[in-house]
Amino acid sequence: MPDKLYNTLDDLDVNGKSVLVRADLNVPMNKDLQITDESRINLVAPTLMELSARGARTILISHLGRPAGKRTSQLSLRLVSASLSKALGGIDIMFASNCIGTNAQAISSTIKPGDFALLENLRFHKGEEANDPNFAAKLSALGDIYINDAFSTSHRHHASVVGVPALLPNAAGRLMQTELDALSRVLSHPDPPTMAIIGGAKISTKLKLIGNLIDHVEVIAIGGGMANTFLYSQGIEIGTSICEPEMADEARAILARANANSCEILLPIDAMILKNRGVNDRPQIVPVRSIAPDTRILDIGPASTNLVSSRMSDCRTLLWNGPMGMFETPPFDTSTNFLAQKTAAMTQTGSLVSVAGGGDTLAALKHSGADAQFTYVSSAGGAFLEWLEGGSLPGVEALKT
Ligand code: 3PG
Repeated sequence: MPDKLYNTLDDLDVNGKSVLVRADLNVPMNKDLQITDESRINLVAPTLMELSARGARTILISHLGRPAGKRTSQLSLRLVSASLSKALGGIDIMFASNCIGTNAQAISSTIKPGDFALLENLRFHKGEEANDPNFAAKLSALGDIYINDAFSTSHRHHASVVGVPALLPNAAGRLMQTELDALSRVLSHPDPPTMAIIGGAKISTKLKLIGNLIDHVEVIAIGGGMANTFLYSQGIEIGTSICEPEMADEARAILARANANSCEILLPIDAMILKNRGVNDRPQIVPVRSIAPDTRILDIGPASTNLVSSRMSDCRTLLWNGPMGMFETPPFDTSTNFLAQKTAAMTQTGSLVSVAGGGDTLAALKHSGADAQFTYVSSAGGAFLEWLEGGSLPGVEALKT
């Protein structure tokens, strides 16, 4: 067993070297091609600033969107260059209009120690997603060292994620390192008891996740649309609520396995509901066993929220994935907001380590205003979920020493 699983920036001498950094600059944009959330750019900045301060010639590679091997001007990384420059204190960034070939080679060899080059979208080449060895070889020829600072892309078996690190000395960037440390604090080395709050619309997308968590945590609180499928599987009327009836057997199997593993599953005991066509109707709170056929569940109710909250009070570690209700539309954000604020308060007093991420979670916690007070909130979507499902990712495996 090696002392550590992967190298970090601490293990490498980058002075004067060409360092290829795989970042995730896949930022959301509006129809005018303006970036609507710069979080991912700001999150990678510390790694880039450190490389610059240590005299590296930094060559940034990333994807943007899913162009499927075609050049698409709306998905050019040139659109990200100005925000990146701003995040790096206004420094000029050279841009190569192709990530391989003569232009990329010329720019990569021109940049001076401390400076940066940004190469065009990797996914303009089919070789990226196909993990084509020729494409990986061309990319790796641009650098002396490879850094992966894109945890959020590390679930992809792509050339820039797994092909290049096989060809160059490599390490995790600071963002990747922080993310892996946070995840191992909740799953590999948690301070027990540990609770998971799992929400979101569909149980079908979270089966593996819940299955894995049963072996790792003492309590799982289930909310969101997927809770309806669990209620339905118990023969409870859920009206016209979102539900996956075909997953009822799976839901029952999860409950049985949790029971056999002494993992407590908390399902809603009451709900905030709305009548189907009652435009002027107000939301009502009802016990889950009194839901009328012409109503739908849009949030867990206050008794359920209190139940989750009181179990949380006994826990030392919390993992959160997915909103509890339709948080975008108040008052159906009530339980998510309350539990996020409770998590934040416990975290701030030092009684809880709280880690959240995946899909809608970041948006839901931002909406609650409590996200900054969690121990760690990941910007990763699919990668966060896949790591929790299996404990590793191809891009992390590729860095192993
Ligand atoms: C993400 O946004 O989750 C990452 O950038 C990965 O993008 P992808 O799902 O298109 O691979």
